[in-house]
Amino acid sequence: MLGGFVSDTNNTTDWAAIESWDRRYYLHNTAASTEYAFTGVERVDGNYITLADGSTLLDFQSQLVSDSMGHRHEAPHNAIRQAMERYGHVFFGMATTYRAEAAKLLVEDVLGAPNSWASRVRFLTSGTEAVENAVQAARLFTGKTLVMTQAHSFHGMASGSTFLRGYRGNVTVPGDRGFTQVRDIPGVPAPGYIPIPPPEHTDYLDDGTLPSLAATEQLIRACGAENIAAIITEPMFGAAGLMPHKDYYRGLHELMRRYGILWIDDEVLCGAGRLGEWFGYQLTPDIAPDIMIVGKGINGSSLPSGGMVVNEAIGDFLEAARWWSGSTWDGHPLVCASIVGTLSYMLENDILSTVRQRGQYLRQSLDHLASQHSHIGRVSGAGLYHAVDLVGVDGKPLIEDDRYTGFAGDLSRNPNAIISGACAEKGVFLGGFVPNTIKCAPPFTITEGEIDHAMEAFDFALRKLAEVYSG
Ligand SMILES: Cc1ncc(COP(=O)(O)O)c(C=O)c1O
Repeated sequence: MLGGFVSDTNNTTDWAAIESWDRRYYLHNTAASTEYAFTGVERVDGNYITLADGSTLLDFQSQLVSDSMGHRHEAPHNAIRQAMERYGHVFFGMATTYRAEAAKLLVEDVLGAPNSWASRVRFLTSGTEAVENAVQAARLFTGKTLVMTQAHSFHGMASGSTFLRGYRGNVTVPGDRGFTQVRDIPGVPAPGYIPIPPPEHTDYLDDGTLPSLAATEQLIRACGAENIAAIITEPMFGAAGLMPHKDYYRGLHELMRRYGILWIDDEVLCGAGRLGEWFGYQLTPDIAPDIMIVGKGINGSSLPSGGMVVNEAIGDFLEAARWWSGSTWDGHPLVCASIVGTLSYMLENDILSTVRQRGQYLRQSLDHLASQHSHIGRVSGAGLYHAVDLVGVDGKPLIEDDRYTGFAGDLSRNPNAIISGACAEKGVFLGGFVPNTIKCAPPFTITEGEIDHAMEAFDFALRKLAEVYSG
């Protein structure tokens, strides 16, 4: 049989053929073939995923904290459909209506130019690519090499952005004793990238300078501020589900300004409303980045997207020069149309208020769950992104490596695996990336009733966790 749509006479998918081709020919991410669980998706609608067997899952994680408008939302979808009547691909040397409109919407209507820090944007087709552009721009502008990057942070999976990654382990290979060998990309840790300590958690209690900031200042002085182009950060960490202490970003911003270091703010996951502000840096009043990276929610992940916003000085420098950069897909008209559709809808319908209101309901529900389950050690977050850290009876992380995990050994006993398996039994897609942390990040279209459904599933899953870890 030739490839393409596989159907029987009733026009239904032949899932057996699909599974066999997927297992045989696709090069899979993150799971080894011996442990890969085939999960066929028949379709996605609104806040739900319909699986091959006809059952549905409430998507309480917005896929990879990415599909913020739910699935196939009419705003980006209608915009893409309309754009397809006029455009396919147009390369970056020519201008389309959508590219200009998307840039104006983001820089002027959302970020407030010309009365704000932001001056220009370049649209790309992934967050990773935007990170690579940002690091190049910072190095070219400053003429400096070093980039500082927070432990536990995540900035993408291409080689350059992988060097900015705050957790380790690129490939965990099987051996005689299971998955014990973690191999980094040769060259890691790479020259030019300096890790700084992760921020303290929201419940860190001591007064005075945060230890992470004191250590960062020591590192700046040890490396020499004259060698450091930028510090790249995440507002709330995506992969690691870590919400920084409330004083962290004000302190880090002050350090960067004092030592003349650019701030690259990676808002791929937290931007476009996720934390209840347009961008996560706005949770701390009166601070602003020099370069900001966007992606995911900027078009509800209706098409692959990313973008780099720069301040006026960097924008002027690069715009006055011949910057040999770019990819075939920069400013792609269909991607830009999806951004126009999403941002216009968000502005016209005051989606930020919805995120704040539903976010408050989610937080209250999680706090209630925490009062019932001793394995919940901490709930932290903002807007519609809250992380739940799971602990043992001693209050310590259940899996000792916690956010330093190398994804080695038997992962099926990890709390995140137990929780996600049990939630799926109850029809909810919810889990986490690092072993002890569950990331609740539903689409902005979530209802209170759906939050209740997810909490019931989470409650059931926490009881299962207690059976494993409390005996
Ligand atoms: C903070 C952050 N930066 C960058 C990326 C990479 O973006 P993409 O997967 O679109 O390449 C991600 C992806 O999850 C992310 O969370």
